[in-house]
Amino acid sequence: MELLRVCNLKKSYDIENSRTMKKEKTEVLKEISLSIAEEEALCIMGRSGCGKTTLLKILGGLLVPTAGSVFYKGERMSGYGRKRMEAYRRAQVGFVFQDYKLLEHLTIMDNMILPLMLDHREVKESVSKVEGMARMLQIADKLDYYPNELSGGEKQRAAIGRALMNDPPLILADEPTGNLDEASGRMVMELLIRLQKDLHKTLVLVTHDKEIADFCSRMVMMKDGRLAG
Ligand SMILES: Nc1ncnc2c1ncn2[C@@H]1O[C@H](COP(=O)(O)OP(=O)(O)OP(=O)(O)O)[C@@H](O)[C@H]1O
Ligand SMILES: [Mg+2]
Repeated sequence: MELLRVCNLKKSYDIENSRTMKKEKTEVLKEISLSIAEEEALCIMGRSGCGKTTLLKILGGLLVPTAGSVFYKGERMSGYGRKRMEAYRRAQVGFVFQDYKLLEHLTIMDNMILPLMLDHREVKESVSKVEGMARMLQIADKLDYYPNELSGGEKQRAAIGRALMNDPPLILADEPTGNLDEASGRMVMELLIRLQKDLHKTLVLVTHDKEIADFCSRMVMMKDGRLAG
């Protein structure tokens, strides 16, 4: 079954030329069409600046395309109102970023439990859910630590736990191993792929690293705002 379909997607950014003070358009995504199946692990590769993050943000409902459509479970996302879009981001998508984006003044437990609290879940149940997830990610002994007391790989595993906490079907990961050395990057990917398979998630992952891409079931290459096989 198809989870996401992208049709003839275009995205331009308006930027002001600091010299002429005129608005200029840069066309980043030129004609992207893509179908993403449920439970697949799709990797997007391409050189820096080619628009990978832009595409991921559109898939995650953080950015609106200039033209073209995204369909989620057969429904056109441009038809979502503001509330529906917020609900989509909160319930359907888990984001994983290169720089983790953990809240530094909260413990790992509190970082991971936050999505459940925002969803008004029961506290006791939520705590045991975090503990279970932390065990799967091998950071159960770090729950009382603060982010700056963890290694990069541990921080990313906590961020993956947070992304999965309210059980979204779709995980969008933007260079999740970009700040990690080879060994911790590999461990993070092994855990991410294991969870993606065991929990039946769809993963869209951006990376520069061919070895990281090999963890995924399919790879597409972005070039000049278009996709190649
Ligand atoms: N908010 C913005 N305003 C104007 N231009 C932007 C904006 N965001 C991105 N761009 C431009 O769009 C292009 C694509 O950016 P994007 O971040 O999608 O690339 P990327 O493929 O993720 O690159 P990297 O591999 O370096 O992360 C870049 O040239 C960038 O300057
Ligand atoms: Mg990027």
